[in-house]
Amino acid sequence: MCGIIGYIGKKAAAPIILEGLRRLEYRGYDSAGLAVLGDSVLEVRKKLGKIDEGLAPLVKTSPVTGTLGIGHTRWATHGVPCDENSHPHLDASGRIAVVHNGVIENYDLLKQRLAKAGHKFKSTTDTEVLAHLIGENYAKRGGSGKEALVTSVMDALREVIGTYGLAVICADCPDLMVGARRGSPLIIGIGKDEHYVTSDANAIVAHTKKVVYLNDYDVATITAGSFEVSNLGADTANVQISNLEFSQEDAARGKHAHFMLKEIYEQPQTILNALRGRLDFEGATAKFGGLNMSMAELRSIDRIVIAASGTSWHAALVGEYLIEELAQLPVEVEFAHEFCYRNAPLEKNTVLLVLSQSGETADTLAALREAKRRGHRALAIVNVVGSTIARESDGGIYMHAGPEIGVASTKAFVSTLTVLTLLAVHLGRMRMLSANRAREIMKALEALPKQVEKILAQNETIKKLAQKYHKAEDFFFLGRGYTFPVALEGALKLKEISYIHAEGYSAAEMKHGPIALIDADTPTVFVVPQDSMYDKTMANLAMIRARKGPVIAVATAGDKAIAKVADDVIYLPPLLEPVSPILATIPLQLFAYHIAVARGCDVDKPRNLAKSVTVQ
Ligand code: F6R
Repeated sequence: MCGIIGYIGKKAAAPIILEGLRRLEYRGYDSAGLAVLGDSVLEVRKKLGKIDEGLAPLVKTSPVTGTLGIGHTRWATHGVPCDENSHPHLDASGRIAVVHNGVIENYDLLKQRLAKAGHKFKSTTDTEVLAHLIGENYAKRGGSGKEALVTSVMDALREVIGTYGLAVICADCPDLMVGARRGSPLIIGIGKDEHYVTSDANAIVAHTKKVVYLNDYDVATITAGSFEVSNLGADTANVQISNLEFSQEDAARGKHAHFMLKEIYEQPQTILNALRGRLDFEGATAKFGGLNMSMAELRSIDRIVIAASGTSWHAALVGEYLIEELAQLPVEVEFAHEFCYRNAPLEKNTVLLVLSQSGETADTLAALREAKRRGHRALAIVNVVGSTIARESDGGIYMHAGPEIGVASTKAFVSTLTVLTLLAVHLGRMRMLSANRAREIMKALEALPKQVEKILAQNETIKKLAQKYHKAEDFFFLGRGYTFPVALEGALKLKEISYIHAEGYSAAEMKHGPIALIDADTPTVFVVPQDSMYDKTMANLAMIRARKGPVIAVATAGDKAIAKVADDVIYLPPLLEPVSPILATIPLQLFAYHIAVARGCDVDKPRNLAKSVTVQ
């Protein structure tokens, strides 16, 4: 969603903030702004549109100088995207500037109260209300000095209901930046005689790898030379300095035209990273360092509920098939946002497993907290090290996929599936999975990186197919068994980045209604590897052909029957059924990517979307 960067030190703040904003832009890109403390005056520049089309040219024609500043990229929650609604927002005096991620739920009530007291608002955002509230507190405290500012921020935060990651600066305090978090991440970056705040480490990794992840209700008082953290709800704050595990190069696009393509191409490596050190062929099992559960505790799990959102929810469906088949453990998959509010019964030995690339998705975090509140153990599979879900879960497994910048998730999905397969083997070996079968699956996992490379080598063929079909306005994606969730994911990728209407279904479900939509202009992508569902899926495919629907098949190399019934075929190497979702996903990612490019869409910044959805 939105992104925050702040700087305090000896260097010019504006270039650091602009560069940081560019690195954050994948999180939200409807507008951007910055405030820099010049000669005792806050200079604010903000503009609708992407950074290099709006804010950067504005700063070029109207420069700002100073060594203290804050910046923001916005993904609108309150109020349309426009210059006025962009952050930073100022208080009534114009001497306090605020950037904010999250949602202030009681902003309307606060706004009415402030309006009665004479406050005038320039925007329709909740953040401007927060800025005015801080300003009002500050004025009441005599309106000067560091202590007054920090206390005014704290008092305001005690009044607001909702979520925030925020940074505040004030024209009266040239050596002070205040940061705070509740429900929306904020990180302090530690440099030499300088500090940063950001909502996403990607923005600062070029400057420092030493960071502190703030916890909920933390308020940080930051100067160039030091920082202090207090907590609104506790006597002391828990401050730990961590090291970022990735580099500036990992977060750069390199030679690829888009981050999404780069991340698709990284998948042989990210699968290796997910497997590294986790395959125990001698014991015929997978091993993990961070589950924080004894063998006996793992053995006593009776049921797993997997909660996730979006692409991660599709991964959860694959997880259900894997764990039920390999470990014979009942699994239920929930949309995280439904799980939190529907009071689902959870039996004593039920464990919640959440899946999240970012580790910050508000819906998924709420599911995790709900399960913990109800006394259940909550595990997580997460990509971003140090993220809130990673820190709040009772144990878990990191994907180690490196930064995922493309808004449409690709490599993280495949990494999640890899980790879920390992987990299913691990749980299975404590139950009924034979050593031979476990080894067979582990060997299939080991073989994946080379097989993925073979699929990536078909990029040009897939690009040609995309050019053939890119004008279609409706698509179906169908699969059965393990490839049913893959079909859902293929449809989601296409709709997200190309804006083509696409539906994913179980191939068998079509005949119960959706087949009414099939005609000669509606192509169907069939994921039909030679697995246990092959004959049945082929029968479903015949029904689509009988209605003149064009068919693009993702099938197994050597399958002669498919070439006769499909208009076009993308071939996968022969594979073991439990790992088939990993490989079958990759051609669909490339297909969606090339269609979006052919339609002239902004692949890495699709309209209306943002990476890491930190509001509910
Ligand atoms: C789709 C996509 C989203 C995310 C979803 C959950 O390409 O990226 O659907 O999968 O917002 O995000 P995480 O996995 O970060 O919890």
